[in-house]
Amino acid sequence: MSQLKLSKQGWSNQTVFILAAVGSAVGLGNIWKFPYITGENGGGAFVLVYLACVLLIGIPVLLSEIALGRAGGANPVQGMANLAHEHRANPLWFLLGLNGVLAGALILSFYTVIAGWGVAYFYESVKGVFQALTPDEVGAHFKTFLANPYELLFWHTVVSIFTVLVVAKGVKSGIERAISWMMPGLFLILLVLLGYAATTGYFAQSFSFLFSPDFSKLSWQAVLTAMGHAFFTLSIGLGTMMVYGSYISQKYSIVRAGMWIAFADTLVALMAGLVIFSIVFANGLEPGAGPGLLFQTLPIAFGQMGGGWFFGSLFFALVVMAALSSAISLIEPAVSWFEQNWGIQRLKAAWILGGLIWLIGIGSVLSFNDWSGVHFLGERNFFESVDFITANIMLPLGGLLMSIFVAWVFDDATRAEQIGLSPRMMKWYLLDLRWLAPVAILIVFATNLVAAESVWFMVAIALTAYAAYVLNAMRKAG
Ligand code: TRP
Repeated sequence: MSQLKLSKQGWSNQTVFILAAVGSAVGLGNIWKFPYITGENGGGAFVLVYLACVLLIGIPVLLSEIALGRAGGANPVQGMANLAHEHRANPLWFLLGLNGVLAGALILSFYTVIAGWGVAYFYESVKGVFQALTPDEVGAHFKTFLANPYELLFWHTVVSIFTVLVVAKGVKSGIERAISWMMPGLFLILLVLLGYAATTGYFAQSFSFLFSPDFSKLSWQAVLTAMGHAFFTLSIGLGTMMVYGSYISQKYSIVRAGMWIAFADTLVALMAGLVIFSIVFANGLEPGAGPGLLFQTLPIAFGQMGGGWFFGSLFFALVVMAALSSAISLIEPAVSWFEQNWGIQRLKAAWILGGLIWLIGIGSVLSFNDWSGVHFLGERNFFESVDFITANIMLPLGGLLMSIFVAWVFDDATRAEQIGLSPRMMKWYLLDLRWLAPVAILIVFATNLVAAESVWFMVAIALTAYAAYVLNAMRKAG
């Protein structure tokens, strides 16, 4: 692959980059996934491990990914090819970009399904459905909703079309403007909900569930989940931050941007957790309810609190928009690759990719009803398998390779130029990036491969490795 610096469009100003990156990071991962996996994994100890992962692995990898994006100057596949060429590394580094493009498509396939639940709940909130339901009925309502594949398919389709329409318009006019008022809006409503949570009388219990660690409840699998989630919630390991970084100028401080992204992301997740668990405890619900947790708790609050109709409708609208700004960032690496390397117009690329992703998403739609007993990876249904492969394997693998590139392939000058840390901080950063992060990720990655409990999956990984080996041999021979 020859060298091409292709990302010319650029952000209209530098703050917009932070907004878009925060928009990508803050999404269903914070409001939907974080609370339910925390509930499934017993609370405090899990949260502590998650916070440690964000700090020690997430932030360093985030900074590296943005730096790779800016230095590579193109979509993840081409960007890595550029960097490999510039630094005389193995040209197969472009495979790192390809892993991301694929992972983005896979994540988006179930992301639109869950965002679809959000649209459905927005619609029902506006109609006043939850005002008429008792807390018990809210749970039953959700079960009935999931049982109907056609309804889920309908909302999945609505979100898919919406995502494609925004991406097709390009980064600037679509996302930039929406995000600048959505994120503050979402944050404000979470504050209102925190106020409501305080009136339930279970706020203190919720707080201690989240923040008092009980390590007897922490399983090894939970540690793996926490690390996978740190990648998922910060949007790293895939190439999202690389593409977004390829649009920023050389003067910009990556460190400052990274700190903002991680701070905003963590704050929203913790706030959502506090609200949801207050409602869980106040109503005698199950913290480990799984993916439906958000949808079985918040409508109770909206049904009971003053102004619940208004806040409920607005909340689900903002969740959907937060999801959209993340959805866009999941498909952007693939779209920019199609655009820059294959000469396919953005509009066409968005529709082709969106269609493919929509098709894969049908598997996740069915996972909650007709296919709920059909197992793919080990005991996991289709949705759980795709979630597992992406969050626990593809994202950590991507992050591992990114940190290796920045830590070992970049020279000191490039590193200093891209990541403007003081010499002392740079030493710590490098130490982390060279040893702690890769070793931790590698352990998690390897255990996850074993935990996949699926022969055909192992075979697929082995075939991929073999293909890379053959490609490499052919390159040397040619
Ligand atoms: N971070 C988003 C969320 O928490 C999801 C997301 C967007 C993402 N882009 C990503 C996850 C890239 C991994 C990689 O909802």
